[in-house]
Amino acid sequence: MSAADWIVLKFGGTSVSTRARWSTIGELAQARLNDGHCVLIVVSAVSGVTDQLKGLIEAEAEHRAALAEQLIARHRAFAVELGLQASVVEPVEQALHALLKSPHAAVRAYPWQAEIFALGELWSSRLGAAFLTAEGVTAGWLDARTQLSAQALPNQGAWARHLSTSCQVQPSPAIAQQLREAGSLQITQGFIARNLSGETVLLGRGGSDTSAACFGALLGAQRVEIWTDVPGMFSANPRRVPEARLLRHLDYDEAQEIATTGAKVLHPRCLGPVRDGAVPLWIKDTQRPELEGTCIDAGGGNGPLSVKAISHRMGVTLVSMESIGMWQQVGFLADVFGYFRQHGLSVDLIGSAETNVTVSLDPSENLLSADNLEALCADLARVCRVKVIGPCAAITLVGRGMRRMLHRLSEVLAEFGEQRVHLVSQSSNNLNLTFVVDEDIAEALLPRLHEHLIRARVMAVDDARLFGPSWESLSQAPVATAARWWERDQARLLEIAASQGPAYVYDLASVRAQAQRLLAISPVDRWFYAIKANDHPALLQALAALGFGLECVSTAELAWVQQHCPELPGSRILFTPNFAPRLEYRQALASGVMVTVDGLHPLQHWGAEFEGAQIALRVDLGPGRGHHDKVRTGGQASKFGLAPADLERARLLAADAGAKIVGLHAHLGSGILDPQHWAEVYAQLAALGERFVDLRWLDIGGGLGVPGSGERELDLAQVAAGLARVKQLYPHWDLHMEPGRYLVADAGVLLARVTQVKDKHGVRFVGIEAGMNALLRPALYDAVHPIVNLSRLGQPATDTVTVVGPICESGDVLGRERRMPAAAEGDVILIAQAGAYGAVMGNRYNRRPLIAEVVL
Ligand code: LLP
Repeated sequence: MSAADWIVLKFGGTSVSTRARWSTIGELAQARLNDGHCVLIVVSAVSGVTDQLKGLIEAEAEHRAALAEQLIARHRAFAVELGLQASVVEPVEQALHALLKSPHAAVRAYPWQAEIFALGELWSSRLGAAFLTAEGVTAGWLDARTQLSAQALPNQGAWARHLSTSCQVQPSPAIAQQLREAGSLQITQGFIARNLSGETVLLGRGGSDTSAACFGALLGAQRVEIWTDVPGMFSANPRRVPEARLLRHLDYDEAQEIATTGAKVLHPRCLGPVRDGAVPLWIKDTQRPELEGTCIDAGGGNGPLSVKAISHRMGVTLVSMESIGMWQQVGFLADVFGYFRQHGLSVDLIGSAETNVTVSLDPSENLLSADNLEALCADLARVCRVKVIGPCAAITLVGRGMRRMLHRLSEVLAEFGEQRVHLVSQSSNNLNLTFVVDEDIAEALLPRLHEHLIRARVMAVDDARLFGPSWESLSQAPVATAARWWERDQARLLEIAASQGPAYVYDLASVRAQAQRLLAISPVDRWFYAIKANDHPALLQALAALGFGLECVSTAELAWVQQHCPELPGSRILFTPNFAPRLEYRQALASGVMVTVDGLHPLQHWGAEFEGAQIALRVDLGPGRGHHDKVRTGGQASKFGLAPADLERARLLAADAGAKIVGLHAHLGSGILDPQHWAEVYAQLAALGERFVDLRWLDIGGGLGVPGSGERELDLAQVAAGLARVKQLYPHWDLHMEPGRYLVADAGVLLARVTQVKDKHGVRFVGIEAGMNALLRPALYDAVHPIVNLSRLGQPATDTVTVVGPICESGDVLGRERRMPAAAEGDVILIAQAGAYGAVMGNRYNRRPLIAEVVL
């Protein structure tokens, strides 16, 4: 066997977070071993753990022990899920305890931080090696720090030297041979290395890709495979541009540009090592290993002239420096850049004029804070007038030979002509062209620019060597047909729209079908429906009839439930308010429903209200999850729940008040599609439960997501399997869940007639009777709802339109860049997935009436 026989496989956080995923890893490794290769697996920390470690580092010293216990409990629970003894992870637990006692902890010394962060990967790699070996795929455990050594770069600040550094690797047949003798399958950690003094250092966020690339180069591997959650690199961020095409083949430089300018699939630093070692790098989808993915090697550069991708980076800060008479003044730039060096800031783009130099600072490469920017500006002010501009976004077109394509970019340039462009920069390697604009307009621009590039044939999407299928077509959601009940009911819906004007229409059969799917998840003992998602009485009654309890967050919701479901006993009603006034707790307790407290204040100041009551505590297990920042209800910035460190206090206060704590509750966000999320919450909540002697149940919240375009359906079988594994450990407590969206989202549509059509500056606006007053989600969360012209179902989509409402706000946009048949006044437009958080969030802005609701 030659050294080329190594294959390096890298798996990120989600790919190492469940037993099912580890089984996939085992299969992939085994297949390569069967082909005669040696395999090195590089892993990240279990999903969310690096953030938890960060939380621990940032916490006050007295809170760290509790956070450490959470992490330990989480990994022990995972060990059990993997069928392993908890002793497998003991070495990591000991290291953590020692680090908490270290004298460096008080000052959060960088080397200490690096040691703490490293624990995440040490944990996951130990668990993985033990699991695969137990499954019969014998895997050795390798400490990455024995092989990868970091080299400090000149001008690197202390932070970067310890927490975001790079490695230098030379191919070493001797090491390849030595590792092969140790075993043909080894597991090691991403993200960590050692420095020349032997200390642990980190390769920066996303550094596991870099580790894999360095190992690939070191071993002279046949290839490095980065296994992730997407099918490869795309011609734009598919979440913003569903029409984005898979990039089949890139050369190292193009991939470097795309990764550097925004694509999150691959960490930009990982390309250097594979390019230097001439090791091909593949990006593959863990959930669909059969897909071809993206291949990056030295040979992709000879194809046709084409823009390959349009990428964007948010959070860019510009520093504009104005000085009279700097023109050709010797040393001016040297002075200016000297200050950036002093403050450890690396400059990305540069634009210069006679009296002005403007540079950009990239947030991913810099530890930008208000403080160090201010200090920089104070220094710069000695030699020039300084202005900081931000937050900005840098939008970059990437393609080899960019200068030869400029003449075909007229439509793209026209698009930018409408916006305030702060800086334009064409890279000297002829690979990119970047525009810096205000951050808030960037994401809306992307789909338009992408379309212009295809239309002008600057992006050669017809060349099958370069471009693969679109994101949309790769991720056809299998639920789509069931969710499209409204196609069958077209005639009836058209009639409703004609007679009633704008209306929400709900299909009860869809609600019942979703409910049955959930009821089949056997580890859950009780289901509650979060009525905030849609409180139409017919829906509440249908769900109550199927055995669902109801979850309320205000006394007005409680009264509504009591009015429309008078038979429902108090034991099947939850009251889970947040920052509600005292009176609401009093009324809820008096009505005999189950009350959840999510802060210390009520117990501390209103103890008398809780005397003799049975209550639950809501815990913030942070970080939050969900489809948008605004719906994540965990972590430091979130107003919900008690910090785990305050639970003991809450327990004592409740005891003082004479209340029993019978439930623990956690809900970390809404619109979650990761099937393992709830098992994680369950295990974490259960680990906190032991000290509550009266505990009877755990409520792991709602948040079950419904796939939008380009997303895959939530795999309920996996949800159930994860819960079942945790339940085995804690059979003595009942398990509750309280979804809202999942039950009703696809069951509701919003109908509204076209009012006017307008063409302006090349954009076609289709106006409809209902806007952000009726459906707030697109304006508030950039939510993407499917939109069809119900009057013209089945006709070819010939127009690209922006669908807008009648409200006097520029945010009154229901959908951008939608393809549909040409619309005429009076056509009925249907907005799908509007059953959850649609009518309930409607408002009377501009004195427009609330929208009617009709149940089929
Ligand atoms: N339990 C609690 C404590 C909650 O706060 C929520 C939702 C749920 C359960 C139900 O979550 P679901 O299963 O529906 O994801 N307006 C946003 C969603 C806000 C969710 C608020 N809390 C949206 O339209 O996406």
